[in-house]
Amino acid sequence: MKLLVTGSACKKVSLDLLKTVCNTAQSIENITFPPLVQLELSNDESIKNINEIYRGIACTTDVLSFPSILYPEGFLAGNAEHLFAEEWDTANQAYYIGDIIISTDRAAVQAQNFGHSFERELCYLLVHGLFHLFGYDHLREADKIIMRRKEEQVMNAMGQFKNDDAKLLELARKAMTEAYVPYSKFQGGACLQSEDGRLYTGCNVENASYGLTNCAERTAIFKAVSEGAKQFTVIAIAAQSMPPWPCGACRQVLSEFCEDLRILVTWGDGEVVESTLKELLPHSFSPSSGVQEFLGKDSE
Ligand code: THU
Repeated sequence: MKLLVTGSACKKVSLDLLKTVCNTAQSIENITFPPLVQLELSNDESIKNINEIYRGIACTTDVLSFPSILYPEGFLAGNAEHLFAEEWDTANQAYYIGDIIISTDRAAVQAQNFGHSFERELCYLLVHGLFHLFGYDHLREADKIIMRRKEEQVMNAMGQFKNDDAKLLELARKAMTEAYVPYSKFQGGACLQSEDGRLYTGCNVENASYGLTNCAERTAIFKAVSEGAKQFTVIAIAAQSMPPWPCGACRQVLSEFCEDLRILVTWGDGEVVESTLKELLPHSFSPSSGVQEFLGKDSE
């Protein structure tokens, strides 16, 4: 893939890394023709202007993509070479497939929020933009799941961005220190990884009413879902002195979004035990057991 990079922030990143991301995405998507992508590494101010001009939204955002063609139903870049006939760029000997604009300001903030590097966030945003140029979108939930899986495939193929268990365990222990536990004094922390490799942390937050207490695991999953993640691969859970196996309520809430999930619990001087949600909640009442099909039908 030919990648042309412009913008005030382009000195902040390795061009080779961005090119590797593009080539990885191209090969995962089986695009056999040479595509050309223009990437502008911009800032909050400038992406806000572009967002307002082209989408009527006067807000900053992390990434914008403008595919060069409108894909007809059933077409994606991988099977649409002929649709790019008029997009041939002689100077670059490639088919122009579109523009991506990334705010490096937003990338830096998001990297910090997710607890990963600026490079990782930037590469993820680039991957996201590329899949839009390849014809994917995420307006419908089903399409979003497909797009996220593709993005995750690319991020995982870029070995250096794979989170290892040690990182999740460390973030769960760190989240534990934020626990609000004036009543039980039991500090819990969790770190949940979504399919695209993003990490969401949570701690338990107690309440004087006791019953309104929220566990660490549910804090993490509610944060994740409210930020757009609905598929997860692993959760690390930390406590001080005993193995913090998730309570029944948390198992049930996790099972709403995870067909299966690796569960790592850690306590004491770094003890770690691993299990799965299927093991901890067999025969679950959840979408993965097909229960959705029957809900609302019993009174018919
Ligand atoms: N707690 C969790 O954070 N996760 C669980 O799965 C079980 C219990 C918290 C809730 C409460 O703040 C404290 O542990 C004692 O129940």
